[in-house]
Amino acid sequence: MTGSGCPEPRRGLTGSQHRPTAEAMSTSSWRGLFDLPRDIAYFNAAQIGPMPRRGVEAGKAAFEAKARPWTRSVPDNFFQGPEDVRSCAAHLFHADADAIALVPAASYGLAVAARNLKLEAGQDILVLADQFPSNVYTWRTMAERDGANLRTLSRDQGQSWTETLLTAIGPKTGLVACGALNWIDGGRIDLASVGEAVRAVGGALVLDLTQSLGVMDFDVRDVQPDFAVAAGYKWLLGPYTLGYLYVAPRHQDRQPLEENWINRAGSEDFSQLINYRDDYQTGARRFDMGERSNHQLVPAALESLNVLEEIGVHEASNHIAGINQALIEAAAPFGLRADIPDRAPHYLSLGLPSDAPADLAQQLDQRGVKVSQRGPRLRVSPHIYSDDQDIARFADALKAVLS
Ligand SMILES: Cc1ncc(COP(=O)(O)O)c(C=O)c1O
Repeated sequence: MTGSGCPEPRRGLTGSQHRPTAEAMSTSSWRGLFDLPRDIAYFNAAQIGPMPRRGVEAGKAAFEAKARPWTRSVPDNFFQGPEDVRSCAAHLFHADADAIALVPAASYGLAVAARNLKLEAGQDILVLADQFPSNVYTWRTMAERDGANLRTLSRDQGQSWTETLLTAIGPKTGLVACGALNWIDGGRIDLASVGEAVRAVGGALVLDLTQSLGVMDFDVRDVQPDFAVAAGYKWLLGPYTLGYLYVAPRHQDRQPLEENWINRAGSEDFSQLINYRDDYQTGARRFDMGERSNHQLVPAALESLNVLEEIGVHEASNHIAGINQALIEAAAPFGLRADIPDRAPHYLSLGLPSDAPADLAQQLDQRGVKVSQRGPRLRVSPHIYSDDQDIARFADALKAVLS
């Protein structure tokens, strides 16, 4: 089955439904797409991205429809919605919709990868220090299963994460599992170079793009990963429990984690479901999670992805990079350091002065500034809705707490 493509942005709507077109939409109108009170500076997209109003409206309408199931057609509910979401997500990977599976979590996508990759005993799985736990536990279990070694790479002073990986990749490397950046310090990884190096030694590349997809350009044609997953509830601004898994064509005939009726060929014809079949829906659809049609979350996720599509990854990342630059300047007088030379432009993880209070994030929170403390660092993650007033609030709050 093929989808209808990521639906065109709807034009000409008025009032609260107004959907500015990409050309018409300026950064100043992006904030209005969200329900963000003026006295909150929300710099926590890396934890939970706020859903745009349109996503919320679509989700509400979907719950209303659940009260009256007859009001939505079976094809829309079960097939069209998921296909639209699949198509939108595919754009973010620069992949075909056929290569995308709908998954509930990053860990699910990583589990699909682990199930379908096999290592030789004694081979290495490479992960980075401080990697997100879903992208560590999966490989610990796989290492045990296959008799492989899990090697955690730390970087030396002055070394980039890319250099660290390229130095470590060698004949024993069976698999590299990382993201486009280090979750704690925000250091970027040149995935195209890493992909090339892993392929050269016959290894596999599995990516967790949760902290970058949608706000940092990514192209499967350059990187050629085996699998790449992103949870949808952070930078992708979607509901919790709907994420996206890219599966390289060479793995699309492999084994799903579960055997769900809708992932089998011919599932559109409900009258024939008990004519059990061995063949699956095409492409990566066999890897879709059970109940992937998720009648309430899918319409909401689709609207969130549409907002990002209308704005564009390039524009979004430029805007966020500009906000981060201003935040860096605002933080510097208080001893907070943007000391990661290879920092991903959208991801700001600030080093703290030694006398910073342990509860700095809570104290900023009391002043309407929402950030996260991760390890010894302060993570400040703006998004398309962030603006000058948010930056001013951040500067004022730092002054009140730290001077
Ligand atoms: C890098 C990264 N990956 C994945 C996740 C979410 O993981 P999961 O979808 O497995 O709950 C997070 C959440 O903070 C994350 O930061």
